[in-house]
Amino acid sequence: MLKPLSETIRPEKGGYKPAYGIKYPNKPGGFDLSDMVQFKQGQPYDYFHKLRKAAPVSWWELPEGVEMAGYWSLTRYEDVKACDSDAKRFSSQKGGILMGYMEDENFVSNLRPVKRLSAASLNSMINLDQPFHIPLRMEHRPFFTPDFVKKLRGSVEAEVDRLLDKMEAIAKTQNGYVDMVPHFSERLPLFTVCEMLGVDQKDRPKIVRWMHYLELAGYILADPESSVSPLFVGKFLWNVRQMFRFGEKILQERRDNPRDDLLTLIANAKLDGKPMEQNYLDGSWLLIVFAGNDTTRNSLSGTMKLLTQFPDQKRMLTEDPALMPKMTPEALRLVSPVMYMRRTALEDAEFSEQKIAKGEKIVMWYGAANRDPEIFADPDRMDIHRNNAADHLAFGTGPHVCLGQRIAIMQLEAAYARILARFPKIRWTGRVNHAPSNFVHAISSLTVKLH
Ligand code: HEM
Repeated sequence: MLKPLSETIRPEKGGYKPAYGIKYPNKPGGFDLSDMVQFKQGQPYDYFHKLRKAAPVSWWELPEGVEMAGYWSLTRYEDVKACDSDAKRFSSQKGGILMGYMEDENFVSNLRPVKRLSAASLNSMINLDQPFHIPLRMEHRPFFTPDFVKKLRGSVEAEVDRLLDKMEAIAKTQNGYVDMVPHFSERLPLFTVCEMLGVDQKDRPKIVRWMHYLELAGYILADPESSVSPLFVGKFLWNVRQMFRFGEKILQERRDNPRDDLLTLIANAKLDGKPMEQNYLDGSWLLIVFAGNDTTRNSLSGTMKLLTQFPDQKRMLTEDPALMPKMTPEALRLVSPVMYMRRTALEDAEFSEQKIAKGEKIVMWYGAANRDPEIFADPDRMDIHRNNAADHLAFGTGPHVCLGQRIAIMQLEAAYARILARFPKIRWTGRVNHAPSNFVHAISSLTVKLH
């Protein structure tokens, strides 16, 4: 029987040394891929170029005192693709998809709502291998088909218009300037996942609030310079508790009174042939909210940045909106909203002549792979006519390839078709903030001038 992954994936010990010799010992200095705070400057594309050249497979250890095993970093496109495609040899289930799990001794992490949150982040399909993963993924399919996405597009477009109305009204009071993140990029993806899940209008503001708390808490914990007030901790715990109560209640309601929505599907989904227990139910509805939320948000904001940095590309798109489907893969390639996924080797393996032993961790850096000059000529340039942009790995590849990619692309296209038609002169002002995360390319604010 499948045990909850939160009981099988255990915190790691530090001090591990790789079993085979390190082929590329001289990785360039200047950036630490394990240090979330350094990602406040955005993705380290220049560093990725140096690293790919000097040490395409590099060994990273955590500083002394951090109880987390070291890991291999892959930065070449072909290596990332080979690892991501081969789920038989590179497991998501063995150690999860995050860089590592530390034993956290502070009192907040030991509180029940926080423990339930950590468990929910592990108990879902993204962390499962076969034979459990594919059947569960297949159950979700009706809400990710081209037909479903087509039906959803109308309501997404209407929401884009509503959000742009509001954004314009706010900009009018601020000399034409507005922060696109809180007023647009973070609103649209939450609207879309709520539509898919079937969350009632009255409950949606709560989801927005919970996501805010979860993010703030994550960033505060990641940034040692920030201080957490006891008041914030109290509010955070209350919100997490409410979120789980809501999930439990709404999934029970869907079992009693089924509707045509994704929550009903999750409430009745089977895992390993049996109805899912509460721990996987928690993880499964939250996976959709988390996976569909800040990924899409950052692709929306990141695309605005790109279109300002490459005005010739923006001009082409404004003059010919039919080019939108060519723009989206190129923007996703350059933004790479998910920075990495991690795997654990189930047997000895080799990438770029570096031997990796069974049990060792591998981190696949999508942003580095997507700018590999061996695959994408002049990789840092936006070129919507690039003939292989669709080969990007921003959605991963292999059996876990992003289930929501059609939903994400539809939102990007719907958003930019309407943004550029309405505000053809819109531009990013150069002001941007990134939250401290090395997992998602987290753009926390991006100021634009509308006209
Ligand atoms: C630009 C937006 C998005 C990006 C860049 C993105 C990226 C990714 C990546 C890299 C993975 C892991 C792939 C792998 O391990 O090979 C993934 C998995 C997943 N994504 Fe997305 N995603 C986006 C939007 C969405 C949306 C909108 C949804 C749902 C509404 C979604 C749902 C999922 C789910 C459920 C998985 C797990 C699939 C599995 O394990 O089989 N994603 N996504």
